[in-house]
Amino acid sequence: MLKMKVFAFNDLSVPIIQAPMAGGTNTPNLVSGVANFGGVGSFGFAYATPENIEKSLVTTKKLTAGYINSNFFVFKDVKLPEKETQIKCLEALTSLPFGEQVEFKIPSAPFFISLDDQLGPVWDHRPAIVTFHLGIPNLPIIEKAKSLGIKVGITATNELEALDVVKAGADFIVAQGFEAGGHRGVFDLGTHDDQLKLDDLLVKLTKKISLPIVAAGGLMTGTDIRRVINLGAKAAQMGTAFLCSSEAGTSAIHRDYLLNNQDRETKITNAFSGRPARGIDNTFIKNMQNEPILPFPAQNSFTANLRKTSEIIANGEFVSHWAGENFKKIRNLSCSQILHELKIEFENA
Ligand SMILES: Cc1cc2nc3c(=O)[nH]c(=O)nc-3n(C[C@H](O)[C@H](O)[C@H](O)COP(=O)(O)O)c2cc1C
Repeated sequence: MLKMKVFAFNDLSVPIIQAPMAGGTNTPNLVSGVANFGGVGSFGFAYATPENIEKSLVTTKKLTAGYINSNFFVFKDVKLPEKETQIKCLEALTSLPFGEQVEFKIPSAPFFISLDDQLGPVWDHRPAIVTFHLGIPNLPIIEKAKSLGIKVGITATNELEALDVVKAGADFIVAQGFEAGGHRGVFDLGTHDDQLKLDDLLVKLTKKISLPIVAAGGLMTGTDIRRVINLGAKAAQMGTAFLCSSEAGTSAIHRDYLLNNQDRETKITNAFSGRPARGIDNTFIKNMQNEPILPFPAQNSFTANLRKTSEIIANGEFVSHWAGENFKKIRNLSCSQILHELKIEFENA
C-alpha cells in the first residue's frame, strides 16, 4: 500500500469539502474530481454494504491521490411501534394517490448495516478522512481511525453536541446549520432543536471551541465560503452545490426539481426516513404532515418502493429531493467547472 498523506486543512488548494451524500450521489468520478482539484471528495456510505464501500474506495483511489472522506451515519437501535400504529403507518402510505399500486411492508431487523462491518474496507483502504453524522461512534472506532492516521470529523448542530465531539477526541467538527440539505445531524431526536442558522452556530462554536470547524449549510458561492472562513471556519462543506454536477449520481427527477422547480421552497420533513431532513417541498411532504411514521431508518426502507415507483413513472411528487435552502443558486456544470468558479469567487470576495 502507498504511504498515505495525512490530511491537513492547510494543504487544500480550495477550502472545500464536497459533502457526503448517501444514496448514490457521490460517484468515484465526483469524489476524485473534487480531490484532484485540491478539495476533499466525500462518499456518503450510510446505506452502503461493505462490498460496495470496498469497490468505491478501490475505484476512486485509482483516479486520485487527493483527499477522500468516507462518511457514515451513527444509527441507534430501532423499536417499532405497536401493531395498531404500524397498521396506521401502512394505511397512510397506501392511501396516497398511487399507493395501492406499490407494495409496502413493515421492515424488520436488521434495520441498518453494522458500522463495524461498514468500516472494514475503510481500515483496509485508509481514506484520509472519516466523518460521522447523527451522533458519535463508539470511542474504539475513533481511536482506531486515529491510530491509522485517518482524521475524524463529526457533525454537530449546537454547542452541547460540539462539546461532546471535542470530548470524544475527534479531529474536527462539521458545524451544520439549519439551512443544510439532507438529514439534520442532531444526535438525539428527543431533545429540543434550537435550529441554529450556520452563522449563529459558527459564532457560538468558535467562541468556546479550539478544534477546527468545517461549516455546512446553504453555502453555494465563493462569497459564501469567504464569509464562513471569516467567521473562523477552516473549510466549507457543500452538498447541494454539487448535486447537478455532471459527475454526480443525482437522479434525473431530482435534477429536474433542482433546476426547474425553483418556484418552490425547501422544507424539513421526517416522513421519508423517520428523521428530519431538508428537501424540496412536494405532495408527499404535504400529505404526510399529520400521519404516523416509523422510526428512522425503518421509515426509509418502508418508503423505498414508493420512492422507486415515483421515480420510474417520472412523478417527482413522492420521492425525496434533498436540497439546502439556497438550492436556487445551483450550477449545472462539471464539478471542475463548479470548483473553478467557486475558487475565483472566493479569491475575489
Ligand atoms: C442529497 C444530500 C444527502 C446528504 N447525505 C448526507 C450524508 O450521507 N452524510 C452527511 O454527513 N451529510 C449528508 N448531507 C448533509 C451534508 O453533509 C451537508 O450538511 C449539507 O449538504 C450542507 O448543506 P447544503 O446542501 O446546503 O450545502 C446530505 C445533503 C444532501 C443535500
